[in-house]
Amino acid sequence: MYYSDDIIEEVRAGNDIVDVISGYVRLKRRGSSWVGLCPFHNEKTPSFNVSRDRQMYYCFGCGQGGNVYTFLMQYENRTFQEAVQTLAERAGVDLPEESYSASERRAADKRTRLLEIQKEAATYYYKKLRRPEGKRAMQYLTERALNQETIRQFGLGYADKHSNDLYRYLTEKGYDDQLLSESGLFFMDEKQGAHDKFWNRVMFPIMDPSGRVIGFGGRVMGDGKPKYLNSPETMIFDKSRNLYGLQIARRSRKKAMIVCEGYMDVISMHQAGFTNAVASLGTALTSGHCSLLKRYAERILLLYDSDDAGVRAALRAIPMLREAGLDSRVVHLEPYKDPDEFIKNRGAEAFQERLDQAENSFLFEIRMLERDYDLQDPRGRSDFLHAAAAHLLTLEDEIERESHLDAVAHQYHVDRDTLHKMVGRLALSGAGKSPARNPGAPRPAKTHRETQSDQAQKLLITWLANDPGLIGQLDGIISADEFTNPFYRTIMELLCGQDSGEPLNPASIIDRFEDSEQQSRAAALFHGSAAPEDEQGRSRALTDMICQIKKDALDQKLSELSMTDLEGLMQLTEARRKLDRLRVNGLNHIVFQS
Ligand code: UTP
Ligand code: MN
Repeated sequence: MYYSDDIIEEVRAGNDIVDVISGYVRLKRRGSSWVGLCPFHNEKTPSFNVSRDRQMYYCFGCGQGGNVYTFLMQYENRTFQEAVQTLAERAGVDLPEESYSASERRAADKRTRLLEIQKEAATYYYKKLRRPEGKRAMQYLTERALNQETIRQFGLGYADKHSNDLYRYLTEKGYDDQLLSESGLFFMDEKQGAHDKFWNRVMFPIMDPSGRVIGFGGRVMGDGKPKYLNSPETMIFDKSRNLYGLQIARRSRKKAMIVCEGYMDVISMHQAGFTNAVASLGTALTSGHCSLLKRYAERILLLYDSDDAGVRAALRAIPMLREAGLDSRVVHLEPYKDPDEFIKNRGAEAFQERLDQAENSFLFEIRMLERDYDLQDPRGRSDFLHAAAAHLLTLEDEIERESHLDAVAHQYHVDRDTLHKMVGRLALSGAGKSPARNPGAPRPAKTHRETQSDQAQKLLITWLANDPGLIGQLDGIISADEFTNPFYRTIMELLCGQDSGEPLNPASIIDRFEDSEQQSRAAALFHGSAAPEDEQGRSRALTDMICQIKKDALDQKLSELSMTDLEGLMQLTEARRKLDRLRVNGLNHIVFQS
């Protein structure tokens, strides 16, 4: 389904971005914009900005940005078409039954097609499991104590022994090689042709929170290696922002979510009635996972395997969860290895007991810290208490710190005041002042290495977006083809309406870009900095940036010019003269509006 640009614009205009985002993020007014805690990374002080004037958002912390459509696409993992549909409904705009247009929609279309492919594949595997050739796989699953309802609920399937079954099936359905290769389900080999990535494996479809298949895990039946094969990340499958089982767990309406390691763990917990279990997808927990969890739960029960790797995973996850504002506890399953094994041996009731006895994650950290010290030795004990005090100091929340201080004092039989003083002294010495940033914390927005001319192009666009009245006034003075940076040139063309004859507003320019990084870059541009206050200063700054851009364009032309192109050379010389005049005289009669 394609929608015309007019419809897209109408729907966008009918959905005020501040209203829409307020449905997901708590926003507060600050000056001319609205700010809140960014839903795309974890933060304690708001750097997520929404502008009603520009109908855009941008996060200064993580660099995500866009318009009302990209927000829904990023937050709800929607395709462009779905975002249009949702917002059309919200605004009461009737969408035409069928309306075709333009190549700009191709990228959104690609996501839709990739989702279709995953869905086709899931159905294909699902059916195979129930055919004669899937008999052994079905047997494997029942031997692992899964019942039919569970197998159905998780959409489990089987990838056949033949190595290009699925490929043939999808090709016959009309999907081309390019698209199939981007689905992550095939190996494309120039000599040997294409073949399926998964064969003779039990298949676990991975779904996004709204239940759409975005990838797969496939397990060998028995002891082969590798035990699991997983889909690679694709345009629709971001491992650091999806959790296995979340499509069901989000509906469990419990205050806590159980986070574990494996596909099978999630499935056996659900079967035993613990429908709030999810797993990270063969990767460590990321801050993206934490923000996702934060939407559905207040507390996390960490259920990692009872081995060193499990302890390390928990120690990594705890600070990240804390940073995201989630309370976490660690569940112990010894002597069993993982939830699946525990439930099989001890049953649901005993499992619930272990959940109830979960250890406060701060005390867990301290207990793990303790392993490095000899508490029998007075020196060792004192060193340990100092380390514990330093760790207490990393807790930013005072109430939390005080209560944990009590717990540590109690657990290790130290006088509360003594410990308190220790923490105080450390704080004064500045030791715990800047707690080591956890590895999952967001990096500041990417900075591209930019030339002076790039910067000038960027700034000019920012100004034009802020004060569209300038666009007409600069007609004949500077044009988009003088922009040497391809990204800025495209934006400039759209902003001036070079090909459509009609200037586009910034919020709709964002829709013209296919990938989200470009959308964010465009949004950053339109959220740009302020111009000098006084007219004269502005006029001067405008002249400077225009001259800079023109000079760069001329330099580039010169470098491309053939030595024998005399006419070209003369034109360039003339252009240079004009540029010099502009530099000296400046721009006249420019009227600034904003
Ligand atoms: P486990 O080895 O604990 O697997 O790995 P499991 O889920 O308990 O599976 P069973 O019970 O042996 O069948 C935990 C998770 O790590 C990832 C998978 O996501 C798995 O569920 N993993 C493990 C892989 O991606 N590849 C592997 O080869 C092994
Ligand atoms: Mn297991």
